[in-house]
Amino acid sequence: MKIGESEIPFLPKKLSIIFDRTRWEEKALIKAARRKRLQTELIDAKTLCLDVETRYDAKTYGDVVLQRCISYFRGLHVTAVLEKNGLSVVNSFDTSLVCGNKLLTSLALAKAKVPTPKTCVTFTPEAALEAMDRIGYPAVIKPVIGSWGRLIAPVNDRATAETILEHREQMNSSLLQIHYIQEMVNRPPRDIRTIVVGDRVTVSIYRSAPAGVWRTNVALGATTTPCPITGELEDVAIRAAKAVGGGVLAVDSMESPDGIVVHEVNSTIEFKGAAAATGVDIAKKIIEYLIEISKR
Ligand SMILES: Nc1ncnc2c1ncn2[C@@H]1O[C@H](COP(=O)(O)OP(=O)(O)O)[C@@H](O)[C@H]1O
Ligand SMILES: [Mg+2]
Repeated sequence: MKIGESEIPFLPKKLSIIFDRTRWEEKALIKAARRKRLQTELIDAKTLCLDVETRYDAKTYGDVVLQRCISYFRGLHVTAVLEKNGLSVVNSFDTSLVCGNKLLTSLALAKAKVPTPKTCVTFTPEAALEAMDRIGYPAVIKPVIGSWGRLIAPVNDRATAETILEHREQMNSSLLQIHYIQEMVNRPPRDIRTIVVGDRVTVSIYRSAPAGVWRTNVALGATTTPCPITGELEDVAIRAAKAVGGGVLAVDSMESPDGIVVHEVNSTIEFKGAAAATGVDIAKKIIEYLIEISKR
């Protein structure tokens, strides 16, 4: 008798996907997990009440948990609870913490000798001005925590620096009193996103900004095309992923006159553009990695 697909038993492995919004990526991951016959539990983090004394185990949360919250702080705190209960979460607390904070990422990259733009951090507007004078104009200033290009500003001269710092002072945000300052990389109007799953590069894409737009975030209109995976790119991306603790990561880099420099490593990755540009089933690669992890 031919067994119909619905009669094929699920694998004994169980996967939980914790999310706070269902994007294209979550749907693709759920489909890929079901195709692999994984028992898949979907957990909306917004409905969770995690008790510090309760023991959460694999029976409830599965052999491996994929943390997909858009909110950095929500994802980090859920991960803290589950990891303290001995559960295996992708990405780990340490990796998520480092990737979500640009200064911690820069420190990890520098320690591992991964090429990265010259960067410094200051804690007052006066010290920030001095740092920008030293780093030279144009410079770049960023919030240490943030994404989608928000509040990333090119600083073309001292007058602009003073204005931005005055605005930051007026904003009632302790995060914006941390001034993360970077050299402006002389790059083409694009950057490179390389997706690393475990210890392998899955795909790499260029993200090209529309005319007149400086930031190359897809959220700001950048278009995606495949990027050849050269030996240099592969080496830098794998070392960058390892430097932040490894997992399922998107390593963002720029083509500087001296070679590839990594400016960011993303932990809860969006890959719709990369999948469309390359035709690679990235969700499937991620699920295969989770199955591998669950066997360890
Ligand atoms: N040092 C830099 N030199 C040139 N361009 C930069 C630099 N830093 C950021 N950018 C541009 O701004 C975009 C957003 O910066 P990024 O650090 O990736 O922040 P976010 O986490 O918000 O994406 C980058 O993709 C890139 O196009
Ligand atoms: Mg970015």
